[in-house]
Amino acid sequence: MTSSKNVPHHIAMVMDGNGRWAAKRFLPRIAGHRQGVESLKRIVRACAQRGVGVLTVFAFSSENWNRPADEVSGLMDILAMALSREVPQLKRDGVRLRFIGLRSGLSERVARGLADAETATESNTTLSLNVCFNYGGRWDIVDAASRLAQTGTPITEQSLGAALSTAYCGDPDLIIRTGGERRLSNFLLWQAAYSELHFSDLLWPDFDEAALDAAIDDFASRERRFGMTSAQVATHSSIPASI
Ligand code: IPE
Ligand code: IPE
Ligand code: MG
Repeated sequence: MTSSKNVPHHIAMVMDGNGRWAAKRFLPRIAGHRQGVESLKRIVRACAQRGVGVLTVFAFSSENWNRPADEVSGLMDILAMALSREVPQLKRDGVRLRFIGLRSGLSERVARGLADAETATESNTTLSLNVCFNYGGRWDIVDAASRLAQTGTPITEQSLGAALSTAYCGDPDLIIRTGGERRLSNFLLWQAAYSELHFSDLLWPDFDEAALDAAIDDFASRERRFGMTSAQVATHSSIPASI
Protein backbone atom coordinates (compact mmCIF):
# COMPACT_ATOMS: atom_id res chain seq x y z
CA MET A 1 0.00 0.00 0.00
CA THR A 2 1.12 3.57 -0.69
CA SER A 3 2.56 5.34 2.36
CA SER A 4 0.16 7.87 3.86
CA LYS A 5 2.79 10.64 3.59
CA ASN A 6 2.03 11.18 -0.09
CA VAL A 7 -1.66 10.46 -0.04
CA PRO A 8 -3.73 13.39 -1.37
CA HIS A 9 -6.12 14.84 1.18
CA HIS A 10 -8.90 15.37 -1.38
CA ILE A 11 -9.40 13.05 -4.36
CA ALA A 12 -12.10 13.64 -6.98
CA MET A 13 -13.15 11.04 -9.53
CA VAL A 14 -15.02 10.99 -12.83
CA MET A 15 -16.42 7.47 -12.69
CA ASP A 16 -16.65 6.85 -16.43
CA GLY A 17 -16.98 3.68 -18.51
CA ASN A 18 -19.95 1.82 -17.00
CA GLY A 19 -21.79 1.59 -20.33
CA ARG A 20 -18.77 0.22 -22.19
CA TRP A 21 -18.10 -2.29 -19.38
CA ALA A 22 -21.64 -3.64 -19.89
CA ALA A 23 -21.48 -3.55 -23.70
CA LYS A 24 -18.28 -5.66 -23.66
CA ARG A 25 -20.31 -8.33 -21.84
CA PHE A 26 -23.41 -7.99 -24.05
CA LEU A 27 -25.30 -6.66 -21.02
CA PRO A 28 -27.64 -3.66 -20.86
CA ARG A 29 -25.90 -0.40 -19.91
CA ILE A 30 -27.77 -0.36 -16.62
CA ALA A 31 -25.90 -3.52 -15.55
CA GLY A 32 -22.70 -1.47 -15.91
CA HIS A 33 -24.11 1.22 -13.64
CA ARG A 34 -25.01 -1.42 -11.06
CA GLN A 35 -21.47 -2.76 -11.18
CA GLY A 36 -20.27 0.84 -10.87
CA VAL A 37 -21.86 1.02 -7.41
CA GLU A 38 -19.82 -2.05 -6.36
CA SER A 39 -16.67 -0.35 -7.60
CA LEU A 40 -17.53 2.82 -5.67
CA LYS A 41 -18.03 0.84 -2.45
CA ARG A 42 -14.58 -0.72 -2.90
CA ILE A 43 -12.92 2.63 -3.61
CA VAL A 44 -14.61 4.38 -0.67
CA ARG A 45 -13.28 1.67 1.65
CA ALA A 46 -9.81 1.87 0.07
CA CYS A 47 -9.69 5.67 0.38
CA ALA A 48 -10.65 5.50 4.06
CA GLN A 49 -7.92 2.88 4.67
CA ARG A 50 -5.31 5.04 2.93
CA GLY A 51 -6.12 8.16 4.96
CA VAL A 52 -7.82 10.19 2.23
CA GLY A 53 -9.92 12.87 3.96
CA VAL A 54 -12.33 13.81 1.18
CA LEU A 55 -13.55 11.84 -1.83
CA THR A 56 -15.70 13.65 -4.40
CA VAL A 57 -17.26 11.50 -7.11
CA PHE A 58 -19.15 12.45 -10.27
CA ALA A 59 -22.24 10.25 -10.42
CA PHE A 60 -24.67 12.12 -12.69
CA SER A 61 -23.97 15.26 -14.68
CA SER A 62 -26.33 18.08 -15.69
CA GLU A 63 -25.86 16.80 -19.26
CA ASN A 64 -26.68 13.16 -18.42
CA TRP A 65 -30.40 14.09 -18.57
CA ASN A 66 -29.89 13.94 -22.35
CA ARG A 67 -29.51 10.14 -22.21
CA PRO A 68 -32.38 7.82 -23.14
CA ALA A 69 -35.26 8.08 -20.63
CA ASP A 70 -34.95 4.44 -19.52
CA GLU A 71 -31.26 4.86 -18.68
CA VAL A 72 -31.99 8.05 -16.70
CA SER A 73 -34.80 6.43 -14.72
CA GLY A 74 -32.63 3.32 -14.19
CA LEU A 75 -29.88 5.55 -12.75
CA MET A 76 -32.37 7.20 -10.37
CA ASP A 77 -33.55 3.75 -9.22
CA ILE A 78 -29.96 2.58 -8.66
CA LEU A 79 -29.25 5.66 -6.56
CA ALA A 80 -32.37 5.19 -4.42
CA MET A 81 -31.61 1.47 -3.99
CA ALA A 82 -27.92 2.04 -3.19
CA LEU A 83 -28.83 4.58 -0.51
CA SER A 84 -31.31 2.30 1.23
CA ARG A 85 -28.81 -0.61 1.14
CA GLU A 86 -25.51 1.12 1.84
CA VAL A 87 -26.18 3.98 4.24
CA PRO A 88 -26.18 1.79 7.39
CA GLN A 89 -22.72 0.40 6.49
CA LEU A 90 -21.37 3.83 5.56
CA LYS A 91 -22.63 5.05 8.91
CA ARG A 92 -20.73 2.27 10.70
CA ASP A 93 -17.59 2.99 8.65
CA GLY A 94 -17.51 6.66 9.67
CA VAL A 95 -18.29 8.00 6.17
CA ARG A 96 -20.12 11.30 5.98
CA LEU A 97 -22.22 11.61 2.83
CA ARG A 98 -23.00 14.89 1.12
CA PHE A 99 -24.76 15.35 -2.21
CA ILE A 100 -23.65 18.19 -4.41
CA GLY A 101 -25.76 19.48 -7.28
CA LEU A 102 -29.14 20.91 -8.15
CA ARG A 103 -31.84 19.26 -6.03
CA SER A 104 -34.83 20.89 -7.67
CA GLY A 105 -34.67 18.74 -10.82
CA LEU A 106 -34.95 15.51 -8.80
CA SER A 107 -38.04 13.53 -7.93
CA GLU A 108 -39.47 13.79 -4.42
CA ARG A 109 -38.36 10.19 -3.68
CA VAL A 110 -34.74 10.76 -4.75
CA ALA A 111 -34.50 14.18 -3.03
CA ARG A 112 -35.79 12.67 0.23
CA GLY A 113 -33.31 9.77 -0.05
CA LEU A 114 -30.41 12.21 -0.42
CA ALA A 115 -31.51 14.34 2.54
CA ASP A 116 -32.06 11.29 4.78
CA ALA A 117 -28.62 9.84 3.91
CA GLU A 118 -26.98 13.15 4.75
CA THR A 119 -28.74 13.37 8.09
CA ALA A 120 -27.99 9.74 8.97
CA THR A 121 -24.23 10.22 8.47
CA GLU A 122 -23.78 13.82 9.61
CA SER A 123 -21.79 13.04 12.75
CA ASN A 124 -19.22 10.87 10.90
CA THR A 125 -15.66 12.10 10.55
CA THR A 126 -13.43 9.38 9.01
CA LEU A 127 -14.04 10.21 5.35
CA SER A 128 -16.17 12.88 3.68
CA LEU A 129 -17.84 11.47 0.58
CA ASN A 130 -19.28 14.07 -1.79
CA VAL A 131 -21.51 12.60 -4.47
CA CYS A 132 -21.99 15.02 -7.35
CA PHE A 133 -25.46 14.26 -8.64
CA ASN A 134 -27.28 16.49 -11.11
CA TYR A 135 -24.04 18.47 -10.98
CA GLY A 136 -22.29 20.67 -13.50
CA GLY A 137 -19.25 22.86 -12.94
CA ARG A 138 -20.88 25.72 -14.83
CA TRP A 139 -24.03 25.39 -12.70
CA ASP A 140 -21.85 25.51 -9.56
CA ILE A 141 -20.20 28.79 -10.63
CA VAL A 142 -23.45 30.42 -11.80
CA ASP A 143 -25.28 29.32 -8.63
CA ALA A 144 -22.52 30.75 -6.43
CA ALA A 145 -22.38 34.02 -8.40
CA SER A 146 -26.15 34.52 -8.34
CA ARG A 147 -26.32 33.99 -4.57
CA LEU A 148 -23.57 36.60 -4.12
CA ALA A 149 -25.41 38.99 -6.46
CA GLN A 150 -28.67 38.55 -4.51
CA THR A 151 -27.00 39.69 -1.30
CA GLY A 152 -25.00 42.43 -3.03
CA THR A 153 -21.68 40.77 -2.12
CA PRO A 154 -18.78 41.88 -4.34
CA ILE A 155 -17.58 39.02 -6.54
CA THR A 156 -13.94 38.19 -5.88
CA GLU A 157 -11.98 34.96 -6.17
CA GLN A 158 -12.35 34.55 -2.41
CA SER A 159 -16.09 35.24 -2.18
CA LEU A 160 -16.92 33.13 -5.24
CA GLY A 161 -14.72 30.25 -4.05
CA ALA A 162 -16.41 30.41 -0.65
CA ALA A 163 -19.88 30.24 -2.24
CA LEU A 164 -19.17 27.11 -4.31
CA SER A 165 -20.68 23.75 -3.41
CA THR A 166 -17.33 22.36 -2.29
CA ALA A 167 -16.24 25.37 -0.22
CA TYR A 168 -16.38 23.39 3.02
CA CYS A 169 -13.70 20.94 1.86
CA GLY A 170 -11.53 22.95 -0.53
CA ASP A 171 -10.26 22.01 -3.98
CA PRO A 172 -9.27 18.48 -5.00
CA ASP A 173 -5.56 17.70 -4.90
CA LEU A 174 -5.98 14.91 -7.43
CA ILE A 175 -8.67 14.32 -10.07
CA ILE A 176 -8.86 10.81 -11.51
CA ARG A 177 -10.88 10.03 -14.62
CA THR A 178 -11.44 6.42 -15.60
CA GLY A 179 -12.72 5.15 -18.94
CA GLY A 180 -9.94 6.46 -21.18
CA GLU A 181 -11.33 9.93 -22.02
CA ARG A 182 -9.10 12.92 -21.34
CA ARG A 183 -11.61 15.62 -20.48
CA LEU A 184 -13.41 17.12 -17.47
CA SER A 185 -16.97 16.94 -18.90
CA ASN A 186 -18.12 19.92 -16.77
CA PHE A 187 -16.77 18.52 -13.47
CA LEU A 188 -15.41 20.92 -10.80
CA LEU A 189 -14.30 23.51 -13.38
CA TRP A 190 -13.30 26.20 -10.89
CA GLN A 191 -11.96 23.80 -8.29
CA ALA A 192 -9.71 21.99 -10.80
CA ALA A 193 -7.49 25.08 -11.27
CA TYR A 194 -4.47 23.46 -9.58
CA SER A 195 -5.53 19.82 -9.25
CA GLU A 196 -3.21 17.14 -10.55
CA LEU A 197 -4.95 15.09 -13.26
CA HIS A 198 -4.66 11.32 -13.64
CA PHE A 199 -6.33 9.41 -16.47
CA SER A 200 -6.91 5.67 -16.29
CA ASP A 201 -7.89 3.56 -19.28
CA LEU A 202 -9.71 1.15 -16.96
CA LEU A 203 -13.49 1.24 -17.15
CA TRP A 204 -14.97 2.39 -13.83
CA PRO A 205 -16.28 -1.08 -12.75
CA ASP A 206 -12.73 -2.43 -13.23
CA PHE A 207 -11.02 0.36 -11.25
CA ASP A 208 -9.65 -1.31 -8.13
CA GLU A 209 -7.30 -0.76 -5.18
CA ALA A 210 -4.21 -1.34 -7.33
CA ALA A 211 -5.39 1.27 -9.83
CA LEU A 212 -6.07 3.70 -6.97
CA ASP A 213 -2.57 3.12 -5.60
CA ALA A 214 -1.11 3.71 -9.08
CA ALA A 215 -2.98 7.04 -9.26
CA ILE A 216 -1.75 8.01 -5.77
CA ASP A 217 1.83 7.07 -6.72
CA ASP A 218 1.49 9.16 -9.90
CA PHE A 219 0.28 12.08 -7.76
CA ALA A 220 3.18 11.63 -5.35
CA SER A 221 5.66 11.89 -8.24
CA ARG A 222 4.35 15.29 -9.37
CA GLU A 223 5.83 18.63 -8.38
CA ARG A 224 3.03 21.07 -7.56
CA ARG A 225 4.41 24.51 -8.31
CA PHE A 226 1.32 26.77 -8.16
CA GLY A 227 2.95 29.17 -10.59
CA MET A 228 6.29 29.29 -8.78
CA THR A 229 9.62 27.96 -9.99
CA SER A 230 11.02 24.62 -9.00
CA ALA A 231 13.72 26.32 -6.93
CA GLN A 232 11.10 28.32 -5.03
CA VAL A 233 9.10 25.19 -4.32
CA ALA A 234 12.23 23.54 -2.90
CA THR A 235 12.76 26.40 -0.44
CA HIS A 236 9.13 27.20 0.42
CA SER A 237 7.38 24.38 2.16
CA SER A 238 3.95 26.03 2.12
CA ILE A 239 1.78 26.87 -0.87
CA PRO A 240 0.68 30.47 -1.58
CA ALA A 241 -2.18 31.68 0.63
CA SER A 242 -4.30 32.48 -2.42
CA ILE A 243 -4.51 28.84 -3.61
C1 IPE B 1 -20.38 6.82 -16.32
O1 IPE B 1 -20.42 5.77 -17.21
C2 IPE B 1 -21.64 6.90 -15.47
C3 IPE B 1 -22.53 8.01 -15.85
C4 IPE B 1 -22.27 8.95 -16.70
C5 IPE B 1 -23.83 8.04 -15.17
P1 IPE B 1 -21.04 5.93 -18.66
O2 IPE B 1 -22.47 5.57 -18.61
O3 IPE B 1 -20.75 7.28 -19.22
O4 IPE B 1 -20.22 4.84 -19.46
P2 IPE B 1 -19.68 4.94 -20.95
O5 IPE B 1 -18.79 6.16 -21.02
O6 IPE B 1 -20.87 5.05 -21.84
O7 IPE B 1 -18.91 3.68 -21.13
C1 IPE C 1 -19.05 12.26 -17.12
O1 IPE C 1 -19.16 11.15 -17.96
C2 IPE C 1 -20.15 12.24 -16.10
C3 IPE C 1 -20.10 11.18 -15.10
C4 IPE C 1 -19.17 10.29 -14.97
C5 IPE C 1 -21.19 11.18 -14.16
P1 IPE C 1 -19.92 11.24 -19.36
O2 IPE C 1 -19.85 9.88 -19.95
O3 IPE C 1 -21.26 11.84 -19.20
O4 IPE C 1 -18.99 12.25 -20.17
P2 IPE C 1 -18.87 12.50 -21.74
O5 IPE C 1 -20.25 12.65 -22.27
O6 IPE C 1 -18.18 11.31 -22.33
O7 IPE C 1 -18.03 13.73 -21.88
MG1 MG D 1 -19.22 8.03 -20.32
